[in-house]
Amino acid sequence: MIEEIQYTKEGAIASLRINRPQKKNALTVEMYTAMVDALQDASADQVIRVLGIFGGQDFTAGNDIGDFMAAGGFNEDTPVIRFLRAISTFEKPIVAGVKGVAIGIGSTMLMHCDAVVAGRSARFALPFTKLGLVPEAGSSVLLPLIAGRMRASWLMLSGEQFGAEEACNMGFVSRVADDHDVDGAVAMMCGILAELPPNAIATTKRLLKKHFAAAIDNAITEEARAFAAALQSDETRAAFMKFMQRA
Ligand code: COA
Repeated sequence: MIEEIQYTKEGAIASLRINRPQKKNALTVEMYTAMVDALQDASADQVIRVLGIFGGQDFTAGNDIGDFMAAGGFNEDTPVIRFLRAISTFEKPIVAGVKGVAIGIGSTMLMHCDAVVAGRSARFALPFTKLGLVPEAGSSVLLPLIAGRMRASWLMLSGEQFGAEEACNMGFVSRVADDHDVDGAVAMMCGILAELPPNAIATTKRLLKKHFAAAIDNAITEEARAFAAALQSDETRAAFMKFMQRA
């Protein structure tokens, strides 16, 4: 593991913590690779029944924009795609806790979790169009399922930010807590799931996801193609330069 991704196991619960606070937990190629390793370990370890995902003061400000600027195309070996395949097909329950910003993939990865606790400071956004980009992580399928088509369209087209209460009202997160209670609430929910019969839990998760699995898988592929093309566009390069050069 690397300093920016902390992976620990205690009893039946594995925990993954994003830890790059000086950059608002923006995710680099190395961090995706470490998260894939963690997901693979948690999947293979028979003792582990549940995975908790945590940030710090912020969940994550999304993909590292410097890495985006260096990115070529995406294929199945690209760390971010490997991460998306790993989280979207992970068979054990995932509970995430969000404080501060959850931007871009910081929001879309949550759609693959089974429960999310949002702290009152949480700020979600899918600012893809603002950056000349398009949805990723299967979110073009998942967000309409979660929030309804109209609300999904607005959030995706406008990139408008939304907070914890709104996220809870639209079913984007499971519950809202005070910031200092978020990690404890996630641990408590992981504990509940870890105590329940594992085969029933695994089958229930599989049944809940089964009807959408192929659509999500296809969306990840198709979105990655469109996203890679958009990354090379003038409007995206200009938006990234603006971010990198801001005072
Ligand atoms: N990639 C790379 N670096 C990032 C980053 C990202 N996605 N998000 C934040 N950072 C870095 C900033 O460059 C800054 O680094 P510096 O101190 O070396 O200059 C540091 O994290 C703190 O961010 P800052 O912008 O100063 O904090 P803020 O509170 O003013 O704003 C955000 C926070 C999250 C609103 C703002 O950083 C932002 O818009 N980030 C980009 C989010 C984004 O578009 N992600 C991609 C989605 S597809």
